[in-house]
Amino acid sequence: MNCDAYQTGFGNEFATEALPGALPQGRNSPQRAAYGLYAEQLSGTAFTAPRSHNRRSWLYRIRPASMHKPFVAMESAGFHNRFDDVEATPNQLRWDPLPIPSAPTDFIDGLQTMAGNGSAAAQSGIGIHVYAANRSMQGRYFYNADGELLIVPQQGRLVLATELGVIEIEPQQIAVIPRGIRFRVDLPDGPSRGYVAENFGSALRLPDLGPIGSNGLANPRDFETPVARYEDVEGDYELIAKFQGALWRASIAHSPLDVVAWHGSHVPYRYDLRRFNTIGSISHDHPDPSIFTVLTSASDTPGTANIDFAIFPPRWLCAVDTFRPPWFHRNIASEYMGLIHGVYDAKAGGFVPGGSSLHNCMSGHGPDAASFEKAIRSDTSQADHIVDTMAFMFETRAVIRPTRSALESEQLQHNYFECWQGLKKHFDPQQR
Ligand SMILES: [Fe+2]
Repeated sequence: MNCDAYQTGFGNEFATEALPGALPQGRNSPQRAAYGLYAEQLSGTAFTAPRSHNRRSWLYRIRPASMHKPFVAMESAGFHNRFDDVEATPNQLRWDPLPIPSAPTDFIDGLQTMAGNGSAAAQSGIGIHVYAANRSMQGRYFYNADGELLIVPQQGRLVLATELGVIEIEPQQIAVIPRGIRFRVDLPDGPSRGYVAENFGSALRLPDLGPIGSNGLANPRDFETPVARYEDVEGDYELIAKFQGALWRASIAHSPLDVVAWHGSHVPYRYDLRRFNTIGSISHDHPDPSIFTVLTSASDTPGTANIDFAIFPPRWLCAVDTFRPPWFHRNIASEYMGLIHGVYDAKAGGFVPGGSSLHNCMSGHGPDAASFEKAIRSDTSQADHIVDTMAFMFETRAVIRPTRSALESEQLQHNYFECWQGLKKHFDPQQR
């Protein structure tokens, strides 16, 4: 995979063809497309969405997407959108990493739904899943009609062969597959694990920067969208659809990854989290963690996201007279965190790469006792360089409801609350 296989930018109108002249010039859908291709439009927003938010792509393909046998309902124990099976709990929750399976398991079979809110029907909310898999999808393709997928690998590379081209990602890179795009996941490294956010709301985009100005955080030029690449193969394949929270399967006699040329803005993309331009205090106090937002899905309420995807990358801490780890806090927002690499600076142990934590609306949390004791004794006249870390957060406006399987999981740490029990009483009214 070389960098020539990608086009750069965010929200662009991209154009790419795997055969010269496959993309018509001047018209979207000529009566007879080059090479005998079919023209097909894929719309990811309402036709009349404002131009700045409108996303659609024109595909020039060997066969149209309508060509497959009828879908039938498919059993899926792990991957679903049932967020009301059990009462949501205000307890702080934390999980160990999902073990890599020993039986042959591909990306779709390896998905386990941990939590979520809203629904595909309401076009609002999020599904939060983890995956643990050990082999490529074989003869099966997938698309999600319910939302776009933000994929965050923690172990093992993923090769995402999509209708619009091939994206390869490794841990500390992410990919977004838009609603409806068909794809297959190959695992070149075998055992693989990671996290997936399923966004039922408006498409993820870059946050506005306000007084930060025109540069910083995730820069548009660092987002990469693949060039066209097609499979012209026939066989006995399976097309899996996720539709209204459930999985469906259909037989298909050809690869649906048969798009020879395309142009448009409804596109998959990848981003390397190590390119994030971190902004922070160079005097005192913390800015709010919203400065770590990579991508955001706007809701109907200005400034209140359906989902924010934020990261906590390596960075310098140099604020003086300031408690430098994340402060103790309670939020109206709810926070699901994962650790991709290294150590997270607010926890001395227990939160390991591949693990997860969930702190819901108004549930108190923050550094554990050991991290607090270390931080209050630190010399803030000296800068501290946090290295070897990459944590992330899916933050949502609605409560994130854990699933029954997440609450009954062997990975749930029933002693998580203990990490705050050792916080000492320091209060002394005689000692200012
Ligand atoms: Fe938090």
